[in-house]
Order: sequence, then structure tokens, then C-alpha cells
Amino acid sequence: MTFVVTENCIKCKFTDCVDVCPVDCFHEGPNFLVIDPDECIDCTLCEPECPAEAIFSEDELPDNQEHFIQINADLAKSWPVITEVKDAAPDADDWNGKEGKTELLEK
Ligand code: SF4
Ligand code: F3S
Repeated sequence: MTFVVTENCIKCKFTDCVDVCPVDCFHEGPNFLVIDPDECIDCTLCEPECPAEAIFSEDELPDNQEHFIQINADLAKSWPVITEVKDAAPDADDWNGKEGKTELLEK
């Protein structure tokens, strides 16, 4: 099993999650983070840290977010690891909770 970053991270990217991950499995893209499913040890620490509530256990994903399992697995292969918190997107609070952001995901 793994944890999965879902749509509401897009254009928010608060990065609080990376601070608690004991195995450095977050990878960073232009406006989104993903979790490497081969590295995640299911420790659960990141889930409550995300201000956008974008992180779910794979087996608790909302039905409309299941495509993010593959998105996380694919992008973790090419994006660099991120281990330190950085500033969120400047307009992160405006994007937090907006629906339909998947098409805005920059790869
Ligand atoms: Fe990292 Fe734990 Fe979150 Fe997996 S569940 S991404 S190991 S903090
Ligand atoms: Fe994204 Fe939440 Fe981490 S918005 S960067 S999953 S803290």
C-alpha cells in the first residue's frame, strides 16, 4: 500500500508534508508533489500535515481521485526528491478547495 497525493495539492503545494516523511519519498514538480509508492512505508504522518487535505491512503481514496495512484507512480520516476519545506504557491489559499484542477497539473 502507499499514500497518494491528490488533486487539491495542484497549485497549492504547501510542502508541510515533506517535513515529516521519514523516508524522503516526496518528489516535486512545477505545481504539485507526488509520493513514490515504492518508497512510502505507510507511516501515516504526512496525511494530517497537509493544509489542503490532499493526501490519502491508497485504500481510502475518494472514487474520483483514483487516477492519482498512477499519476504519483509515474511522476515520481522523473521528478526530483524534495526534503525541505519551501514557500507555498503565492496564491495557494485561493486555489485550496477549487475543483477541476487536474487539467492544470504541470508535468
Ligand atoms: Fe512518507 Fe509516511 Fe507519508 Fe508515506 S505515509 S509519504 S512514508 S510520511
Ligand atoms: Fe501538496 Fe499538501 Fe504536501 S498541498 S505539497 S500534499 S502539504
